[in-house]
Amino acid sequence: MLRLQAPLPDRYTLASPDDLASWIQAAKDVLGRRLLVLGHHYQRPEVIRWADLRGDSFKLAQWAAEHDEADTIVFCGVHFMAEAADVLTADHQHVILPDLNAGCSMADMADIDQVEEAWEEIAAITDIDRVVPITYMNSSAALKAFVGEHGGSVCTSSNARASLEWAFERGDRVLFFPDQHLGRNTGYQMGYDESNMRVWNPHRDLGGLDERDVKEAKILLWKGHCTVHQRFLPKHVEAFRAEHPGGEVIVHPECMHEVAELADKVGSTERILEWVTAAPAGSTLAIGTEIHMVQRLAVENPDKTVVSLDPLVCPCATMFRIDEPHLAWCLESLVDGHVVNQIAVDAHTTKWARVALERMLEIT
Ligand code: 13P
Ligand code: SF4
Repeated sequence: MLRLQAPLPDRYTLASPDDLASWIQAAKDVLGRRLLVLGHHYQRPEVIRWADLRGDSFKLAQWAAEHDEADTIVFCGVHFMAEAADVLTADHQHVILPDLNAGCSMADMADIDQVEEAWEEIAAITDIDRVVPITYMNSSAALKAFVGEHGGSVCTSSNARASLEWAFERGDRVLFFPDQHLGRNTGYQMGYDESNMRVWNPHRDLGGLDERDVKEAKILLWKGHCTVHQRFLPKHVEAFRAEHPGGEVIVHPECMHEVAELADKVGSTERILEWVTAAPAGSTLAIGTEIHMVQRLAVENPDKTVVSLDPLVCPCATMFRIDEPHLAWCLESLVDGHVVNQIAVDAHTTKWARVALERMLEIT
């Protein structure tokens, strides 16, 4: 998805790290409690150190809404997270994304036109009132609004199972987007297998399936994935176990099912944090998630050995777009009275996306 971030003025691109740090601190001092800087766990250390609160995508959006004394929320994360924060916050609060090009490649794998087209195709051959759409938090506000309007819900990686169980109390079939891996891993946890799950390819007619497949499937999995988590492979688990026979493997459910099956624990970003923190001193843990989070866990747990499951893993490139120059630029602009890079979701989308998010809260 094209989002245009204008190049920064030279003041920021040519600044030294010390200058940037002093400008960010000075702007934060001036703005005080009117400003809330939120940092996702995957942010780089130079950015996360400025965050007033750090967490996973859903916690951060909730905190933005709870801190209504802050009229400006600078969201150090990616686009869908800033949108969710805008949906959940009050009208007087502005949400800013320091670099507009910080998207999420997975969220961009399902757009509203494709989902509406899929819905119509499914409706042409099944009773659509018995199909419940569930979207992962990692999706645009437009998709959250779509599920809100069509009797579905949002889920996160920590409550995907509860959301699917809720969906099956209301219908016979689930259309799950955009992450096929989270959907498949959750389906397996619930006792489904490949015979009840089909992958819907939005680039093919009828998702690349035949009518019988669609009618037989309990879960239609959108053909989307996370480019970061999909890099973890069974061979990485095998190599770690060979080197550290007593070690533990913990992965995020965006990893492919073959990896999740081999892991000792599968859980969301927050769960991974809790498990690593609670592990006994001396533990050796291989983590299958974004590298900045893994490196931070290693630093914050010096009594344990915490490594990336894939020694060559690369960072989430879009999260990585948020840096100190962009942060300094948007904070100094605020001090000058300019709100830059505001993420504003329109009223209709906000209304229905909020319905879908509130449904998720009721479920869990
Ligand atoms: P969380 O919802 O756990 O913050 O994860 C977001 C994400 O992008 C995972 O890849
Ligand atoms: Fe999106 Fe994957 Fe990056 Fe998470 S890690 S923001 S799912 S691309």
